[in-house]
This record gives sequence, C-alpha cells and structure tokens, in this order.
Amino acid sequence: MIFGVDYYPEHWDRTEWKNQAKLMREGNFNTVRMGEFAWKLFEKSEGEFDFSFLDEVIEILANEGIKTILGTPTAAPPKWLANKYDILQRDRYGRKREWGSRRECCANNPHYIEKSRIIVEEMARHFKDNKNVIAWQIDNEFGCHGSTRCFCENCRRQFGKWLGEKYADINELNKKWGSVFWSLDYDSFDDIILPGYNSCEIEYPPNFAHNPSLDLEFRRFSSDSWVKYQKMQIDILRKYTNLPITHNFMGHFSDIDYYKLAEDLDFVSWDNYPDTQWGAAEYEHISMAHENMRGVKNKNFIVMEEQSGPCGWDRVGSTPRPGQLRLWTYQAIAHGAEGIVYFRFRTALFGMEQYWYGVLDHDGVPRRRFYEIQKTGEELKKLEKYIVSAKNNYDALIVKSYDNVWGHEIKRHTEKYDYYNLLYSYYKANADLNICTAVSCGDYEKYKVVYMPSYNIVEKEEINKIEEYVKNGGVLVLTFRSGTRNTYNNIVPLPVPGVFAELAGIEVEEFDAPRREVTICGEIDATSKIWCDIIKPVSAKTLCTYGSEYYKGKAAITVNEYEKGKVYYVGCDLDEPAMKKLAALISNAAGIAMIEAPKGIEIIRRDAYTILLNHNEYEVSLPIKGKSLISGKDFDGRLEGYGAEFICEDDYMYEKY
Ligand code: GAL
Repeated sequence: MIFGVDYYPEHWDRTEWKNQAKLMREGNFNTVRMGEFAWKLFEKSEGEFDFSFLDEVIEILANEGIKTILGTPTAAPPKWLANKYDILQRDRYGRKREWGSRRECCANNPHYIEKSRIIVEEMARHFKDNKNVIAWQIDNEFGCHGSTRCFCENCRRQFGKWLGEKYADINELNKKWGSVFWSLDYDSFDDIILPGYNSCEIEYPPNFAHNPSLDLEFRRFSSDSWVKYQKMQIDILRKYTNLPITHNFMGHFSDIDYYKLAEDLDFVSWDNYPDTQWGAAEYEHISMAHENMRGVKNKNFIVMEEQSGPCGWDRVGSTPRPGQLRLWTYQAIAHGAEGIVYFRFRTALFGMEQYWYGVLDHDGVPRRRFYEIQKTGEELKKLEKYIVSAKNNYDALIVKSYDNVWGHEIKRHTEKYDYYNLLYSYYKANADLNICTAVSCGDYEKYKVVYMPSYNIVEKEEINKIEEYVKNGGVLVLTFRSGTRNTYNNIVPLPVPGVFAELAGIEVEEFDAPRREVTICGEIDATSKIWCDIIKPVSAKTLCTYGSEYYKGKAAITVNEYEKGKVYYVGCDLDEPAMKKLAALISNAAGIAMIEAPKGIEIIRRDAYTILLNHNEYEVSLPIKGKSLISGKDFDGRLEGYGAEFICEDDYMYEKY
C-alpha cells in the first residue's frame, strides 16, 4: 500500500537529501511523488534537457526503500517558453493571463502542446528503465486557478472545428441551438464565437448573456480540451512504460467532466484539504468528495495530496488537532482510498506556499504531526490486507452529472438554488443514517435507491436506462428542476417534470421560488425556502402537502408505483432534519438498514469489518462491540475524540483474519 509524501527536492540543498530520505523512512513512508513543477530544471533552455538531479534523488530515496511517482511538469511552464511563444490563456474579457504562477497555458495552444509533447517524451525515455519509479502522474490539477476555460483565438477556432464534427451542418446547429432567437444564426463553423464579454453581464456565476446552448457546448468543449491534452501525454508515456498512470483530481471541482478525464487513466488520485485558511469543511462534505472520486471510475483511488498541517496561502488555517491527521487518513480509506500521500514533506521556506505546512515544519524538525503520521503508517502495515481492493457495499447512489452542473450554473433558476448544495443535502441525509452511499452515474441496478436530484438535462439513452431500473423494481428519487431540458440545454415542450412525468405519475401545475419560508406537512413536517413545485398527482400518491401560501393543501412530495418499482418526486427543498426523515422513509421502503449514531460519527461496513470514525473532539459511546483489528483488543464501543477504529464484530471472522 502506498504511504507517501509529496517531495520537492529542488527546494532543498542537495546536502540535505540523504537526511530527508532517512527521516522519511523513519516516518514509515514508502513512496514520494516528485517532479510535477520542475520543467525549468529539466529543460533549462529550449531543447536542453537534464534530469540528473532527479536521478540522484530517486537513487537516494531508493536506498531508504522509498519508491517514486513521477509527475510530468507541464503545469508550470518555464519563462523561456512564455517568452518565445504566445502560450498564455485569455480570460473571458479577452485579457491575457500573466505568466508567474502556474497553469497559465491554453490546452489548445499548438506551441504549448508541442513543447509539452517534447518534455514528456524526453522524461518518459529517460526514466523508462528506472525500477524505482512505480507510477506516473500527468501534470497537476487540471483546471485549478480557474484555468479550464480559455477565450483565445486558438480555442475559438478549435471550438468551431469541434462543433463542426459534432453537428456537420451549420444549419443543423442553428436549428438545435435556436439561433433564430436575437438573430444569432451562424453562416459557417468559422463564425462561431466564444461566450466571452459582450457588454451584457448577468450576475452569477460571472456569465454573459449568451445563447445557453453555446454556453453549455463551450463548457463541454473546454472540458474535452483538457481530456485530449491529457490523452496526448498518456499516449506518449505508453510508448515507453506500462506503469500505472494517474492525474490528481480535485474532489468536488466540476469544471472538467471527471468521468471523461478518468476514462484514459489507470487510477484516479486526488488532493484532499479538509481545513484550510478558507475554512473547515463538514466531514460529510469530505466523505462525499472521496465518494465522488471513487465514483468517477467506480474504482478505489489514491489520495495524492493529503493535508498534513495548517494550510493557507496568504494566511494560515487552523492546526489539525491531535488525532485528526490519522482520522482523515482513515476517512479516506473508509471511502475507497488504498494509498495516501501527504502534502508535503517539509514546509517551503520560499514561494507562494510558505504557509502551507507539511509533515515537518520549516526547520525540518519532526514534531507531533510527524509522529502521528508515523504511527498511522505503522498501523497501516497491519491493516493493509483489509484495505487494498476492499469494497464498500453500496445501498444508495447519488447521481452526479457534469452536464447538469454546467446547465444549472448557466441557468440557475433562482438566487438561492445551487446544484451542489442539493446533491450534498441528499448525500448528507444518507450519510447521517450511515447508509453506504455512492456518488457516481450509471449502473443503476447495483443500488436499492437512486437519487437524481435536479437531473434536468437528460440524454435520450438515459431515459430508457432509468425506466428499466424502475420497471425492474428500483426505487428512484427525483426532485424539482428535473427532466425538462434536452442535450442542447433547451427546454422540452412537455408538462413538468418533462421526460420523467410518466415515471413520476404527476404533473407540476405551477411552481414558486418563495420569498418566505413555506411549511410542509404529512408524512414529514418540514420547511422549504428555495423552490416549491405545486403538484397535481396523476397516478402518484401524495406523501406531503404544503401547509402555507396560496397552494396550501397541494401536493409537495409524491410517490408513484411504476411496474415493480417506485418513483418519489420531491417538489421542494427541505430543511436538514426533514431531509434525514425523508431519507429514512425512502430507505425503509427500499429495505436498507440504517444505523442511528451520534452526530459526527461515521460507521462504514465493508466486507467483514466495520470502520468507525469519530469527527468530534470528545469521546462517544457506540452500540458496536467486537475486536479491534488495529490493537487486537476487545472494543467496548467507546471511541475517543478524533478516534478511528477497524472493528471485527464477528468473533468467527476475527479468528479467520
Ligand atoms: C494543491 C496543489 C499543490 C499545492 C497544494 C497547496 O492544490 O496540487 O501543488 O499547491 O494545493 O496549495
């Protein structure tokens, strides 16, 4: 199992390398990731390559039993490259991004592509026989620093080409996009514009008033551009190596379609920072991010950067409490991580990230954080056999669709609406009942319940799959703002909820984006403040009605029996306690076992053992007993603050282990 650190030997005097490697071994680390920002060191000037410093470091580390994951360095283009070629992105106002940070390059820029191709090939050729290299990481965090969408002339031309391949005939595009609106018909694919500054700004997100079809296609194209750029690098590496290839993703980040980005990779890895200068995330938010990362390939993953100290760029974040680094490690594992790499080994003395603390402080002295991680590494040696290739038994699925992320951003419905928040409210309600919940798409038949919150843009093939799932006995949950848009981001001429109306057995007569809280009563008492669909049941049964406003007494939540399955339609947002009641009601109907535990506790049952996580700073008592796979001792249900346990509840299984 990979247990490593992100390492930047180029930040330290070479006389320190040996001691640092020794200390890594003492910390129980067996892997480093290196190289992903070292382009200028590898290629001092155009065509002048030198990888010798890395050869030396890899060797030093190997002598301590530490293997290397190599990053291709294309996230940080050197100055000579930016001087010689116009490789920098243009923002949506057409302004050039300044060189001097990272990720400033455009994925469609032919010079950037060519120079990337060359450095990757040189690197791949150079390291191909190095037995101490165990995997490759492509680039670093595609899309970070707002770099997914570029508005340069190269992108405009490529976008026209991309559309040409998709639509073939420009009149077809005009028809599908409804370009007749405001006289926006194009005469040729060369005419295509990018949705940049046009003097007509709309508030959120920073968008201009463009045709919604253009906006959506541009997001798809921009995402595809990075997928293609990544594939270019993968193809080069593949000429030289069979080692596994990954890229470090960013959890909930959604500007790039991660399902597509993951397709060409052997495994997904991602960067997890639960508590930084920008605030502490709720633990369910982190769990959901892990699930999202597992879900993009439906495969266990690696955390390539795991927080190991207080984190910030211009201000510091709070210090991880004793136990929290270990807890976050086990939280990742519980949701599908089978390797952990901590960011970073020693805190940088210079550069942007002086406040982004690593395992060691600036002075390189091992202290509390080092020892906590060291101890975790020791434990993991014992636990490894339960972790690698372990599978969680998922009962529920939250469907995440990148098309819908973008669609909802382009046409946000109402000030308070947020697609992510809605998905999160469903994830959290399930997680708080300790229901094993995946975040992914497709393969519906694997789950007892499928939640499709605001699944608005629906592809034709998808409708059939969903219908099949329900027909065969599945439980589907739909919500307001579902089923009403087609793949071109246009509205379908059907009663709401559009393509789902028959499945849901309802018709939405009216809706309200309420200015004040609306009450809901029936099977669940609740309040709503973002959206209220006023439902006319056709074949569905009413579960809840509105308790206020002119639509008092009208249906708010319904359920429809459809062949062997059931379709719930939740016409409104619900407050947090009500969300949990709703998840319990649905899970009961679907035969899913739930475990009520105190707030802050996660109970994850996988294979024949259970992972317990306590995100509270105080001890809790749980109704779970068994043997600890970590200590080999009896576990009596008491879990310390920020504690984590692997419990075998079954004596027989424990003996078998
Ligand atoms: C990550 C990035 C790292 C480092 C870290 C701390 O997003 O991949 O290179 O910048 O954040 O800011």
